[in-house]
This record gives sequence, C-alpha cells and structure tokens, in this order.
Amino acid sequence: MNTALEFDHVEMLIGTVSNAAEANAKATRSTILTPRFYTTDFAALDRLDVSPVRQEWDQMMQEYEGDNNHDHFQRDAQFVDEVREGMSKLSPELRQEFLDFLISSLTSEFSGCILYNEVRKNIRNTDIRQLMTYMARDESRHAGFINLALRDFDLGIDLGNLKRNKAYTFFKPKYIYYATYLSEKIGYARYITIFRQLERHPELRFHPIFRWFERWCNDEFRHGESFALLMRAHPHLLQGANKLWIRFFILAVYATMYVRDHTRPLMHKAMGLQSTDYDYAVFRITSDIARQVFPIEVDIDHPVFRRCMTRLAELSVESAAAKARGGLIGGLKRAYCATLATLTFGRLYLLPVKQQELPPQIRVQPTW
Ligand SMILES: [Fe+2]
Ligand SMILES: [Fe+2]
Repeated sequence: MNTALEFDHVEMLIGTVSNAAEANAKATRSTILTPRFYTTDFAALDRLDVSPVRQEWDQMMQEYEGDNNHDHFQRDAQFVDEVREGMSKLSPELRQEFLDFLISSLTSEFSGCILYNEVRKNIRNTDIRQLMTYMARDESRHAGFINLALRDFDLGIDLGNLKRNKAYTFFKPKYIYYATYLSEKIGYARYITIFRQLERHPELRFHPIFRWFERWCNDEFRHGESFALLMRAHPHLLQGANKLWIRFFILAVYATMYVRDHTRPLMHKAMGLQSTDYDYAVFRITSDIARQVFPIEVDIDHPVFRRCMTRLAELSVESAAAKARGGLIGGLKRAYCATLATLTFGRLYLLPVKQQELPPQIRVQPTW
C-alpha cells in the first residue's frame, strides 16, 4: 500500500501547513481521521465504584502520586542543535508529514487533557477525581512538549482557542471507556515501537522528540491501566451485547489509525519502517495488552482483515482525489467511496473473533 501511494495523493489527504494560522486551522478541523474532542455524561462517571479492584487501584494511585516523569518533559542542551541538524536533511514532503504528525499528536494529547479536566470539574467521586487530576496533569505536559516542538517552526497551536473552537463529540460513558482505553494503549504501542526502532538506528532519528518517547509512553500505558481497572470493576461493561460494542471500537480505532498512518509513508520510511509493518506491530502490542480487559480479540492475521485494511486505505486516497476534483463527478465518486468503505468495514466486523477468559490479575507491565 505505501509504495502505491503517490505523494500528491498524500498531500491531498494531509494538506500542507506553512504557517501558524494553517496549523491552528488544521488542529481545529474535525474529520473522520483527525483526533476529536469528547464530552460525556459526567453523572455516570460520578457513580463509578472502584472497590472491587481497590488493591490494584491504590497501588496505581501511588504510582501517579510518585510522578516519576515530573522532570522528564524538559529539553536538554542538545535539543535545539539536533532539531537544526535533523530537520535540515528532510525533504519538504517529509517535513510536511512530520509536522502533520506533530499537530495530530498534539490534538490527541490535548483532547485527553480536556476530557479528563472536564470530568474532574464535574464530579465529586474522590477516586475518579483523583485519577482525572493525574491524567490531565500528564496529558497537559505531553501537549505542552509537542507544542514547544511546533513553536520551533513558528507553528505553535493556541490551546485556549482550540479548546473553545473545536467541535465536541458526545460519547456515552461506556464508549469513552472502550475508546479511551484503546487510544491510550495504542498511544503506548505507537511511541514504544518508534522508540525501539530508533534505539536500534539512532542515525535515523531526525528529530530529538523521539528520545522522549520511552518514559512518555509509560504515562500512556498507566492511563490505559486506569481504564482497564475501571472496566474490570464493572464487569457488565465487558459482557453480553457490550462485546459487540468492544468489537466495533477495536476495529474503528485500528482502521482509523491504519488509514491515517498510510498518509505518512515518508515519515515511517525515514525511520526505517514501512507504514504497514509499523501498524501491524502496533496492533499486535495493543491486542496483547488488551487481553487484560477485553473478552474478545480481533484476528489481525486473518487474510481478509489485512485485505480490508488495505482497501480502506486505498478508498481514503480515492476519496481524497475525488474531493480535490470536486464537481458532480467528484461528489458522486466520494459517495461511492464512502459506501464501499462502509461495506468494507462491515466485512471486517463480521469476521470471526477470538474469545478469551479474563486473567485474575488485571494489571500488566509495560515490557515492550
Ligand atoms: Fe499523553
Ligand atoms: Fe494518555
């Protein structure tokens, strides 16, 4: 798939960003592929009860309180020199993909920050408030650190404006648990896969921010653990018809990531990775971890699964080309692509899944 993607297609998908106004507009825009901001039913979160997992919960809270990353998100002396040297070697196309990566990562870090803060402000439940305070603290550091990197290119995002102007999507609490759990664990898997690759090939590290990913992703891992404990404390979330929702969210999150990553083939290539291999490495880590909480697992090695993912990425390129073309034909072509994408997703949804027993010990360690 990556080799079939021509750069002009990629450019249509990600759009160019050449100044701060465009960067801010890009962060604010909501499409099916860009990170969203969420709101939910806070009263339902207020009613959560962690007593069935109290021991593991308290231990996790101690880790949050210990805050072993409190001094991590500061630049060291070499940072600026590494930016200058690394970025000077990048082609304009690769530079564009990297900036797109920074903007979408910032948006998704900040999305977590806003959601956790809003929950905190709207509930009284001591356990959940405490958790939300810690997670918002972490996400705010993450977003701030990426924003500093964007400012080096005069592309800083105005987070206050973003918070006010971006659309919010309402999600039922259980959708928040499934989707946020997955995005935290996928965030971990993405950052650690990049970190390990560049640890093996430091000569391919074209920007110093990647050196921060190892300790950074442990925060994401712990955020995911928190949602795992919350769901395991309320087992009905993981049973019966909810298993259908879990299947839906796994596939939706995986497919979105796959399609979006295939708009950045140059960036992965520069790190010595192929978008497809990188994504399957991330799927595998995420699926392994998710056995702590999800009673079902999608079969990422099924040939139909692989074909459907490829097809979704192709359809996204075709749809972007149709959009660029515009007019009646462009509109019809886009509708056609959307229908095919829905059918392809349906095909993915109907694939058999693996069933599994949940382990008695919920928490796992970030050992990847
Ligand atoms: Fe984060
Ligand atoms: Fe996180």
